Amino acid sequence: MTHELILAWLRETDERRLEELWRQADTVRREHVGDEVHLRGLIEISNHCVRQCGYCGLRAGRRDLQRYRMTASKILACARRAVEFGYGTVVLQAGEDYRLTGPWVADVVRHIKAETPLAVTLSLGERADEELALWRVGGADRYLLRFETSNAELYRRIHPPRRPTDDTAGQDPPWHTRVKILRRLRELGYEIGSGVMIGIPGQTFDDLARDIELFRELDLDMIGVGPYIAHSETPLGRDPPASGGADQVPNTEAMTYKVVALARLVCPGANIPSTTALATLNLAAGRELGLSRGANVVMPNLTPVEYRALYEIYPAKACIRETADDCHRCLRGRILSIGRTVGSGRGDSRRRSAAGVK
Ligand code: 5AD
Ligand code: FES
Repeated sequence: MTHELILAWLRETDERRLEELWRQADTVRREHVGDEVHLRGLIEISNHCVRQCGYCGLRAGRRDLQRYRMTASKILACARRAVEFGYGTVVLQAGEDYRLTGPWVADVVRHIKAETPLAVTLSLGERADEELALWRVGGADRYLLRFETSNAELYRRIHPPRRPTDDTAGQDPPWHTRVKILRRLRELGYEIGSGVMIGIPGQTFDDLARDIELFRELDLDMIGVGPYIAHSETPLGRDPPASGGADQVPNTEAMTYKVVALARLVCPGANIPSTTALATLNLAAGRELGLSRGANVVMPNLTPVEYRALYEIYPAKACIRETADDCHRCLRGRILSIGRTVGSGRGDSRRRSAAGVK
């Protein structure tokens, strides 16, 4: 698929022609990963973060948010629920929180692996090489790290360096840090996932087409995308730059489906979730439409209810009042309602080059 073709689909507005994109994505999904929809139990283990991402509600600069960090025993209890619900994986996600130390995380992973048959996915930010290696040895199977945008200038604008002294001028574009980490994770034997936000202020159609081409180049096992949702407690939400006009990608539901479908076409064997951000835009049918247009994964939330509202990456997130039971029932029902089946087992990557590697 050429850059021009990707761009043409992203700019397509004719509903009838778009039906053709949905059909292609759905066919490729069925041929490569089948009708099973895998359930990944999400555990939001800490909302502390040292970073200052311009768009994210967990950013360090935010003073009005109560912070929490789950104990190892609570995380283990959530993992046991995942087994009861029949999930193949748990995803441990947090802000970039160094109080979740390398050895502590390794220990949690080892416990989950010793007590359950679950695949363990980590999503803990840009951590040191040694930590990623340690967690892999402890049994972690997968790692998620979105590169957010492949446009270096836009990336720089919304991601201040970790310390003011980390001046990246004259070095690689800063998003290369994440791409480098992803390549390193692959070397360590992780399945790797990445993705972007859709409709970041300043993101052009050309940028988004390049993002999709980077999914293909990285040969991702997992691709998570969702609409950018403005958060009033962040600099980007409070004070967005003047609109880029016709080149600005809208942060809409329709645009998100296009990216899900195109991600399926460029990475046919990838695991692609129909995300919570999509459900946040369309609670009634967003998840189902994502699943019908290329996605094959959903991520029921296992986080204890007392913490859910505090993991406020963006406002009005879906499922902040529901319990793990609610989300489980809700998602099973939605999967069955569209004639798909609930996946069993770990739902390992079907990426072509993964075959034989395991
Ligand atoms: N709107 C949508 N998605 C967001 N994320 C962070 N902040 C926002 C926002 N305001 C996404 C980022 C991050 C993931 C965990 O959540 O893509 O990688
Ligand atoms: Fe949480 Fe539907 S997935 S209530």
